[in-house]
Amino acid sequence: MSSAPESTANVSVPIRRVVLVAATAALGGFLFGFDTAVINGAVSAIQQEFELGDAALGFAVSSALIGCAIGAWFAGRIADRYGRIRVMVIAAILFVVSAVGCGLAIGVYDLSFWRIVGGLGVGAASVIAPAYIAEVSPPAHRGRLGSLQQLAIVTGIFVALLTAAVIVAIAGSSTTEWLLGLQAWRWMFLAEIVPAVVYGLLALTIPESPRFLVARGELKRAREVLTRYVGGDIEKTTTDIIKTVEGKSDRPRFSILRGGKFGLLPIVWIGIGLSVLQQFTGINVIFYYSSTLWQAVGFTEQDSLTITVITSVTNIVTTIVAIMLIDKVGRKPLLLVGAIGQFACLLVLAIVFATATVVDGSPVLEGAAGPIALVAANLYVVFFGVSWGPVVWVMLGEMFSNKIRALALSVAAAAQWGANFVISTTFPALASVGLGLAYGVYTFFAFVAIFFVLRFIKETKGRTLESMTD
Ligand code: GLC
Repeated sequence: MSSAPESTANVSVPIRRVVLVAATAALGGFLFGFDTAVINGAVSAIQQEFELGDAALGFAVSSALIGCAIGAWFAGRIADRYGRIRVMVIAAILFVVSAVGCGLAIGVYDLSFWRIVGGLGVGAASVIAPAYIAEVSPPAHRGRLGSLQQLAIVTGIFVALLTAAVIVAIAGSSTTEWLLGLQAWRWMFLAEIVPAVVYGLLALTIPESPRFLVARGELKRAREVLTRYVGGDIEKTTTDIIKTVEGKSDRPRFSILRGGKFGLLPIVWIGIGLSVLQQFTGINVIFYYSSTLWQAVGFTEQDSLTITVITSVTNIVTTIVAIMLIDKVGRKPLLLVGAIGQFACLLVLAIVFATATVVDGSPVLEGAAGPIALVAANLYVVFFGVSWGPVVWVMLGEMFSNKIRALALSVAAAAQWGANFVISTTFPALASVGLGLAYGVYTFFAFVAIFFVLRFIKETKGRTLESMTD
């Protein structure tokens, strides 16, 4: 190891090469976005077809999130034991199986089961993309490359909406109409097979992570990958990685995350905090229950679909802005500005809805209140899109040391899916008391997020993964 060949110092790598590799891993994010959004388009057809009450429908919708939490939980172990690429391939297989199962489901029970299977894939993909991208990226570009995952997620959400619209248009006018022997809603699920197969096949063409290879003692292969994708002083990086994975067992155990006063290492708590706060400020309520919001503002069902599309395009554009900023201004300033902006927008929404007149149990916004709510909700998405959306995933990929990365990321991501489940299943009950209360709760957590960033977040911009301490 110490015989550093001259030629390995300061290898420079064309960024295009690593972009392609990172984009392949980010495709897992596309499936994450597609899978979580596709149910929205199919939901009313499913309710009709299987004659479901609200509770059974709610379970069919949110069951996937349980799978996501479980998939995230196990992905880190598998990634440490069998490699990052294997996790991607397993996730791709789960996506295909789930797409076929959901598309051909005969009842609500097997549909929920196949949704959970897809959730396992989403959870696994949500862990492996940030970990892998961080591990193959040159430090100076790691934020941008990591943000490709969020770009893929929001594009996946958008494409799911678009696919639903196109399939419905071909079939006739609704998701229950027939197309080539199956109802339109079934094709929405089956459509996922295409990106899933592409993801699985492309994953087989990208190199294993150099940090994983070093941990397995495969130094020659690790140096090759570092030389081809990461660049810099290859010998120094290899030696640094060796130091940080020393004593790492082949059998990954969650016990390496233990420590500190509160059971887990403080850095793991910070990862969990970032994850949970990203969800507790209510982003997915905007996505999963957008029609509740827009219809309260006075729009029809058709208009509300259009606005949902606009919201998802806004999210794509703002993610691109984040990609341009993240390696320049850093992660912490983005998180801070984002939390303050989200807080202000949520406060406006909470006040507007708390003071609205209620007609037949639903709030009606009069005068300027409607447009104010519309602007506040979209601005909220802008603030989220340039900050907490991409930055949380980027930081989860890079903030942990080599030794604990995959497992710590698994725990934080599982907490994120749990938090997503809590927020999405409690929203209907909160909203039935009043949308003002629902947005009031998210406002509170945005307020907490501001202080959380100031107190606990350390900047990771430009630092090497080997300099991250537990
Ligand atoms: C982030 C969140 C995810 C959300 C998405 C929306 O990726 O983790 O829950 O759906 O952003 O932009």
